[in-house]
Amino acid sequence: MVKRPPKRRSSALPIGIVAALLLVASGLVGLIEMSAPSERPVPIGGGFSLVDGTGKPVSDRDFLGRHVLIYFGYTRCRDVCPATLATVAAALDGLGERADRLRALFISVDPARDTPAAVERFVSGISTKLIGLTGSPEALSQVARAYHVASVIHGGDPETALIDHDSVLYLIGPDGRYLAPIAADSSVAEMTRVLADRLR
Ligand code: NI
Repeated sequence: MVKRPPKRRSSALPIGIVAALLLVASGLVGLIEMSAPSERPVPIGGGFSLVDGTGKPVSDRDFLGRHVLIYFGYTRCRDVCPATLATVAAALDGLGERADRLRALFISVDPARDTPAAVERFVSGISTKLIGLTGSPEALSQVARAYHVASVIHGGDPETALIDHDSVLYLIGPDGRYLAPIAADSSVAEMTRVLADRLR
């Protein structure tokens, strides 16, 4: 049982109340200050330093002047990643010459298994128009964080581990700034239309 404090003398009460009000008021000010930053949109995107399927260093600056479509995933994915990239590839085909103003990147979330060669095999098996990128664990976690892509590895066996990962396409403008997300489950027609609108 909590012992109640001795009853205050009447003269002490107003001071206690004033002190309590001051505490509440300063607490409210603190809350308002704390909540202000979260009302601003959290920026998405940023620079990256990775390697392509041949092991050549590739950074975000290599794509300045073109739109960039980025998808995060892993090469052992058997469903969502290949399906999404197949949709992207078909949309690029549908864009015709305009597709040259866009680069479609697949960035691995699986540094342990996605070597440059594995990434190259994976993307080239879907389309020669896709660029597969991988990198060190630090480099891949940095770019995934920048794009707010979460992933969780299931299973201890590196041969069979599955990875749950966010499945979103990010469209970046020619100036390197993030423009918009594109739903990864878009149909080929929808994705072609959205990209064509941006590449006009
Ligand atoms: Ni996947």
